[in-house]
Amino acid sequence: MLSLPRCQMRNRALSSYACCVTAPIQAILTPLILQYSRSYGRSYHSLSPAPSKFDPMTKPALPIPSSHLPHIKTLPSCCLDELRESLQYIREIYNPGVKGSRIKSRHRIFPRRLQSPTSTRERNGVGPHNHDSEDITLDDLRSDQFERAYVLRWLTALISQQADAEPNPASCNPTAHEQIMQEAASLLAICSGTAGAGTISRVFAFLSPRNKSSGTAGEPISVQLNDIPLENHDYSSVGAQTWGGACVLSELLVAEPERFGLAPESMPASPRGLRVLELGAGTGLVGLTVGKVLRQQDRNHPPLVLATDFYPSVLANLAENALVNFPPHESHQSVQFETHFLDWSQHAALDSASVPPFDHPFDVVFGADIIYEADHAKWIKQCLHYLLRKPTPAEASGLSSPPTFHLVIPLRPTHHFESSTVETVFQLQPDNEQTADTASLELYIVSKDVILCAGSLDDSQKGEDVEYSYYQIQWCAA
Ligand SMILES: C[S@@+](CC[C@H](N)C(=O)[O-])C[C@H]1O[C@@H](n2cnc3c(N)ncnc32)[C@H](O)[C@@H]1O
Repeated sequence: MLSLPRCQMRNRALSSYACCVTAPIQAILTPLILQYSRSYGRSYHSLSPAPSKFDPMTKPALPIPSSHLPHIKTLPSCCLDELRESLQYIREIYNPGVKGSRIKSRHRIFPRRLQSPTSTRERNGVGPHNHDSEDITLDDLRSDQFERAYVLRWLTALISQQADAEPNPASCNPTAHEQIMQEAASLLAICSGTAGAGTISRVFAFLSPRNKSSGTAGEPISVQLNDIPLENHDYSSVGAQTWGGACVLSELLVAEPERFGLAPESMPASPRGLRVLELGAGTGLVGLTVGKVLRQQDRNHPPLVLATDFYPSVLANLAENALVNFPPHESHQSVQFETHFLDWSQHAALDSASVPPFDHPFDVVFGADIIYEADHAKWIKQCLHYLLRKPTPAEASGLSSPPTFHLVIPLRPTHHFESSTVETVFQLQPDNEQTADTASLELYIVSKDVILCAGSLDDSQKGEDVEYSYYQIQWCAA
């Protein structure tokens, strides 16, 4: 909690309180505003751009809501830009973008050498223990009941004032008031902290690499997702939000589809066409990104992308996201995108499952942030025994890219043990000669990279960095 005297928080005068609070809160808000511009897409464009008071160069004095927002009484005289910026500021506090999704660096750990997940963290000096004890985190600010109550009052007043405002016939954008009201209503629901906050639409955009032969930039890949706020007291529904690991994996695969077996020439043409599976898809960012990458290609057989999850509300949201990105009325014969229930703990059922879509194994399997309980890695390995295709002799002898499970997990300081189960369950590929004999194969880790992501776009915020392990797991000679 923000342990500051309430009378001082209410007082707009810059007292000694301002001196002690300015730096840490500023440290929170500056990166958030920067992150906003990257993580939020179309849903916000109608309300931007407004010149930001949070430019790192201008150093806001006391940006807590009760002091930063225009006074409620002055709302009728505020210009639209000022209102837009205030709403953007509120969203940054109560509904920020996906944390830890900007890749800063990537190190190959295996095959070259294997380190414990903590060693790079120590080398880079990142992690939660680096926070100054005096730092006020975003969580502190967000959980401050006074500030939240102030924002609720402010938003309510804004909605009522906008509803009463006379439309300006000279305005070049007559719907501006309506947009502001809608945004304020959405934030009101979010700040109320209820499931009634509804879904938040974001657009995630990834730049494709330049086309090597023509030198032209590839088409950007954009995915529109509904996230359901986590504060819906349904803590099992973690997949209702998009996590940083999904952003990292999506960025990697858009940059180098050929390394993920997604380039047209990567896989031998199978009579069934390419089959791609996402485990624990949540909002579906990875699977949808794969679908959009494949949609840009010419293939003889339409590939199947199957995004799976087990939690009912998450699956429902996933199906909605699939409809938004692959609408049935548009002709997407080039890619077949489907969603389906799959519970890893029920792996035994897969043994006898000969019904579509699990009647054939998959060429590529993806998983982002799906190892956070002790049994997850074990269950997932069991599923892969049925779901990851075994390599052909040509693939086993390295002539073409073999079927692979791509797994990205964040190295959460609170989940060291769970994260470590990946390496105990799958183990590193032994030095055995790979043979074309596919009879005695086992699933092994063939490579491990550690990826460091900025929690924000401001590199000075080291304590906010998030580290991920990226594993490639394949069938290898046991
Ligand atoms: C932290 S979320 C990650 C979601 C998504 N991959 C992302 O990175 O945004 C973990 C996901 O795994 C799913 N999950 C957890 N246990 C599962 C199980 N036993 N079977 C299938 N999915 C599971 C959750 O429902 C959730 O969608």
